[in-house]
Amino acid sequence: MSQTTASLGQAILDHADQLARFSDMEGGLTCAYLTPAHRAAQDQLAQWMEAAGMAVRIDAIGNVIGRYAADPAVTDARVLMTGSHFDTVRNGGRYDGRLGILLPIAVVDALNRAGIRLPYHFEVVGFAEEEGLRFKTSFLASSVLADRFDPALLARVDADGITLAEALAISGLPGAGDPQALRAAALDPATLLGFVEVHIEQGPVLLHHDLPLGVVTQIAGSSRFQVRVEGQASHAGTTPMGMRKDAAAGAAEMILLVEERCAAAPTLVGTVGQLQVPNGSSNVIPAACTFSMDIRAGADDIREAAIADIVAGIERIAARRGLSAQVERVPPVNNAPCARWLMDQFGAVLKKRGMEAFELPSGAGHDAMMMHRITDVAMLFVRCGNGGISHNPLETITAEDAQLAAEVFVDFLRHFQPLG
Ligand code: GLV
Ligand code: MN
Ligand code: MN
Repeated sequence: MSQTTASLGQAILDHADQLARFSDMEGGLTCAYLTPAHRAAQDQLAQWMEAAGMAVRIDAIGNVIGRYAADPAVTDARVLMTGSHFDTVRNGGRYDGRLGILLPIAVVDALNRAGIRLPYHFEVVGFAEEEGLRFKTSFLASSVLADRFDPALLARVDADGITLAEALAISGLPGAGDPQALRAAALDPATLLGFVEVHIEQGPVLLHHDLPLGVVTQIAGSSRFQVRVEGQASHAGTTPMGMRKDAAAGAAEMILLVEERCAAAPTLVGTVGQLQVPNGSSNVIPAACTFSMDIRAGADDIREAAIADIVAGIERIAARRGLSAQVERVPPVNNAPCARWLMDQFGAVLKKRGMEAFELPSGAGHDAMMMHRITDVAMLFVRCGNGGISHNPLETITAEDAQLAAEVFVDFLRHFQPLG
């Protein structure tokens, strides 16, 4: 096996480069849900999975799922799942999500070539949507598998006014967005042994500790919001400062509140990543301002307390300025602890190979958070270069680290012991 795994690291990086060519933008990587680039990435993943020896299916939300069937001698085999997302943020990195699909494909390819079968079905999922870029709601793909998909989301619109239902109807996906078909794509938890996800760390911790790999302890819960502030348009030159209902100035004060409140507790973070003055003009006082809010923490009660304060603060600021504010919340995803029994199996492999079984929490969200609703989960983090930067084209990993991660993953799979 050591010969067959010899060059996996470079092969994984090469595949990430190839996949990054399918992009919605010139000169960078954007792969939003159900765009032509997304479709091309999905096809490419299906092709690689088949070439690696997997039977591939594409489900009603667009997940690409490859099954490396169990050793035929095992008649009652259940499924160990792995995977991550292949959609990206706008102008993102090429490893976020994709590493967790490409690495297991490379590993299956190596096992298949070596004639090694596992005593369980091993499934690799390319989740179609995790980032929330197009419809401003995340985890669409894993929520379908976990039977947590909210059909109300089918009415959400993208920047061009196309609803999720319409996008699915013309997608060519099985079911064409029918809620029943989406429901039917849910996994049966009784068939699952667990879910493990390999992911680039997207932060500087492993780099700082000079470690290639780490085992995740828990994934911070997150809540996202869209806020719309309304005031009154009037002339920029003639309206005295004390007589304005300036929606953008109100939003600015609200954004500073997010920053201040989220600096007040450990692990709590708050971000306004989108901010618009719709139909704004330089000489008109803004009648409306919209912004997104992303609030996360390592404990649900810390996050919820911050949200309550921020929403109350937004209402207070709006009232004082004569504005109105609507706060729309998309379904939150709670903090997800990783399963000790799975973490320990990753830890044992790391120690056996002379590495530290270093444990760290994840501040970023992952498909494993949603899978946690139906099965035990664990994550293996791979060191992120360039100071740990991610959601940025500068995101990087080395072939050596990808190689180590692949070898650890092979070891993990070959020694995997189901619970009980
Ligand atoms: C996903 O990348 C997230 O943490 O927002
Ligand atoms: Mn991401
Ligand atoms: Mn990711």
